[in-house]
Amino acid sequence: MKTIDVKTGRSYQILIQRHMLDQAGAYIRPLTKAIRAVIVSDTNVAPLYADRVRQSLIDNGFETSLFVFEAGEASKRLSTIEKMYTHFYEHNLTRTDIVIALGGGVTGDMAGFAAASYLRGIDFVQIPTSLLAQVDSSVGGKTAVDLPSGKNLVGAFWQPILVLIDPETLSTLPETFFRDGLGEVVKYGCIRSRSLFERLERENAMDFIDDVIEECVSIKRDVVEHDERDTGERAILNFGHTFGHALEKLTDYSGMTHGEAVAAGAILLTRISQAKGMTESGTAQRLETLLRKYNLPTSVDFALPDILAATRGDKKSTGKSVNFVFLKSIGECYLRKIAIEDFSSFFG
Ligand SMILES: NC(=O)c1ccc[n+]([C@@H]2O[C@H](COP(=O)([O-])OP(=O)(O)OC[C@H]3O[C@@H](n4cnc5c(N)ncnc54)[C@H](O)[C@@H]3O)[C@@H](O)[C@H]2O)c1
Repeated sequence: MKTIDVKTGRSYQILIQRHMLDQAGAYIRPLTKAIRAVIVSDTNVAPLYADRVRQSLIDNGFETSLFVFEAGEASKRLSTIEKMYTHFYEHNLTRTDIVIALGGGVTGDMAGFAAASYLRGIDFVQIPTSLLAQVDSSVGGKTAVDLPSGKNLVGAFWQPILVLIDPETLSTLPETFFRDGLGEVVKYGCIRSRSLFERLERENAMDFIDDVIEECVSIKRDVVEHDERDTGERAILNFGHTFGHALEKLTDYSGMTHGEAVAAGAILLTRISQAKGMTESGTAQRLETLLRKYNLPTSVDFALPDILAATRGDKKSTGKSVNFVFLKSIGECYLRKIAIEDFSSFFG
């Protein structure tokens, strides 16, 4: 078993082990006095894994119930949260009881937000089952739902009491979503780990996926410990995301998956920064080759001015400037704010 300690406002552990779902209850039991546990999951993941988690909770003395919502980002909204609250109420969830998020990033973000707000906050556990959730969204305590006007606009910082990662669950993850998660994995290599990047170049990610998860989670842990509330360093996790969000917006959130958009955003920005001498020469070529290897996009169908126009409205923009993450070289990055009025001269 791999164990990673996270020291945030509320500290917790991330445990990585295959076939761990059957022991979930045993790992959770010592951390809580809860009588009831509500498992939150979606229509794809619940039929595959909820019974195993539920049985292990029952074996460890929990009364359980299961809340299942329609899989997909379209469910990540306040109306689903309201249904979740109703389920919590009808199943007599008290302040000392517990919520278990079993699924991808949508499940974790929503169950986390419901836990953060129900009865002004109850404990929750993350059991991420998608690659993206295992390497990224289950760690760091950001929870959220979307509004019709934009993604993740309502949310809370709410740390889980435990994260249980069973890489075996990736065996049922559809290929598109696996690739999506790989976009984030490549990002971690780019910003903080030359050795991860080089191993991804040499080997096939799936063949050492447990190590990949451990490395990515450790990087995210380090960043989040320094900047739990996302006021500084945490912004480096947005490498590729600023242009990526713009591309998602331009394709109406349906033309590209998030991971594809991040990959395309990363290579686009790195080509520009390398041409300007801000990034070590050869970096963009290596990144491009790696993205190709994992079937991630290396070009976009939009002109740079359109991407820049869509970037201006980015959530991370301060109104007057946008915080970009540039690579110094593979494994090293830095932040630089660019004033919106300087966009055309900088990117021109
Ligand atoms: N909180 C954060 O820090 C953070 C960070 C990054 C992304 N996110 C959020 O994460 C979400 C994306 O996460 P995601 O890609 O995991 O989306 P998701 O939860 O919708 O999962 C993707 C798809 O895979 C299915 N699935 C998940 N695990 C499976 C498994 N083991 N077997 C079979 N099917 C499985 C799901 O049912 C879904 O259809 C977005 O809403 C994004 O905003 C949050």
